[in-house]
Amino acid sequence: MRRAGPRPEERRREGPSLEEPTVDDIEAFRRAVLGLYEREGRDLPWRRRVGPWAVLVSEIMLQQTQVSRVEPRYAAWMERFPDAASLAGAELAEVYEAWRGLGYNSRALRLREAARICAERYGGVPPADERLLLELPGVGRYTARAVLAFAYDQPTVFLETNIRAALIFHFRPGRDRVGDRELEALALAALDRGDPRTWYYALMDYGSWLKKREPNPTRRAAAYSTQSRFQGSVRQARGAILRSLGDHGAVALAEMAAESGIEYGRLDAAAAGLERDGLVVRDGDALRFAD
Ligand code: ADE
Repeated sequence: MRRAGPRPEERRREGPSLEEPTVDDIEAFRRAVLGLYEREGRDLPWRRRVGPWAVLVSEIMLQQTQVSRVEPRYAAWMERFPDAASLAGAELAEVYEAWRGLGYNSRALRLREAARICAERYGGVPPADERLLLELPGVGRYTARAVLAFAYDQPTVFLETNIRAALIFHFRPGRDRVGDRELEALALAALDRGDPRTWYYALMDYGSWLKKREPNPTRRAAAYSTQSRFQGSVRQARGAILRSLGDHGAVALAEMAAESGIEYGRLDAAAAGLERDGLVVRDGDALRFAD
């Protein structure tokens, strides 16, 4: 017999029609988010109408590094490379030196590539177009949409850890493994189209504030469990060591732990595995590729 619609479990995966927030729910959420922002919003240097290039730089830095670590380094970076042209013409050694402390150095290399493309094609200004932004190295869906909202006031929809925390806490209490499709639908429903830029600053700050007060709500995001399993693995540490060796020729584990945010113990375990496999030679804390 033909079924008229999707099976119940498909319907559940498709989207929570019964769990749509009401207009009142959205209003209450906005009041909570914007109220906190008025009282305790963070005045971060990349939020001061710094222009599209600086917004892109900050978003790339913030992809994998905490706000408190990015803040001082962003200021120093923008002094050294105030625009796309200055970064495009910089030596790689100088670029890595300025990136120190942010971890995952390959981001710096990709950012210089993005600077070269922006300088060549767009007069140094990242384009206000998602498809073109996605062509830039190091720019994925999140970063492209964040740049459109923060630099160009476009009402895009995107998620990151703090945004997920805020949406899950408010709209999905008691639920586990909340998927990104569902969260994007909620982000769209809650979005303040009149001022998306301020809205997203407020939403990120609200999520960050919640995470300090509640058992971290992002643990209930489906994206979190996939990511944390990977982040927590020795495999990730192994990949990071190999990339760093490729970039620098040698790696000091303690320094890498401090810069990448990967715990020393995992780097140590990964290094032991690489040594067993004959890929690296280890001398105390220092690693290099095997000859
Ligand atoms: N403000 C703008 N972008 C941000 C981000 N990615 N994290 C925290 N604050 C921000």
